[in-house]
Amino acid sequence: MKMPPRHVAIIMDGNGRWAVSRGKIRLEGHRAGAKKVLEVIDWCKESGVEFLTLYAFSTENWKRSAEEVDGLMKLMGLLLRTKVGLFVKSNVRVRVIGRKEDLPAPLQRQIASAEKRTAQCDGLNLQVAVSYGGRAEIADAVKRYAQDVLDGRVEASTAPSDEVFRRYLYAPDVPDPDLIIRTSGEFRLSNFLLWESAYSEFWKTGILWPDFGKDEFEAALESFSGRERRMGGRFK
Ligand code: FPP
Repeated sequence: MKMPPRHVAIIMDGNGRWAVSRGKIRLEGHRAGAKKVLEVIDWCKESGVEFLTLYAFSTENWKRSAEEVDGLMKLMGLLLRTKVGLFVKSNVRVRVIGRKEDLPAPLQRQIASAEKRTAQCDGLNLQVAVSYGGRAEIADAVKRYAQDVLDGRVEASTAPSDEVFRRYLYAPDVPDPDLIIRTSGEFRLSNFLLWESAYSEFWKTGILWPDFGKDEFEAALESFSGRERRMGGRFK
């Protein structure tokens, strides 16, 4: 059997376009996108994927209208609150990465509760990136590293190795993404997992996120299994 990617990360793009093309408000697209998340969790479990990271809200998404931002915050909170029982039952561990301190207090509480209730789950690891930016993550890591240097916990005469620097990221125990999927046609990272994606494989589709189907998911995994990953090494 072909080895599935251990860690799949997804840039769930196209909710707005999906809604507008149907004459609906953008938030309807995000609602359809949230339903898709539950399906993708199942597909990951069936395929043997161990880690799934979803880009739900970037540090740049704060620039959207107050109505859309507020709707998204409530939608994420609702999903965490109403589906946490399902996650526990299906052994899914939920964690959120990003600047959680910038989120509204009710969402922070819903996140803390979902993380606590699923902390012992050891099936699929679901990471949701919320108020997440790759540059912000690196800046936050540097800030904590500098503090450790100032406090004398770290020797700064040489640059930190990858192994040491990783400890300052939001989720040091999570392996780097093997495969990054992006929907809705764009071909860019948009500030997602900048440090962790150094050797990730990339797969994109023009399909909008709410329309993303099992066929596309399987095509992405199939494409991944055919790639030769040299991680900077030479051809065999
Ligand atoms: C991008 O589409 C999508 C988002 C900014 C939001 C994605 C969030 C969810 C689906 C909620 C998931 C919740 C959890 C807890 C996992 P876009 O609005 O940028 O689409 P466009 O490019 O067509 O405008």
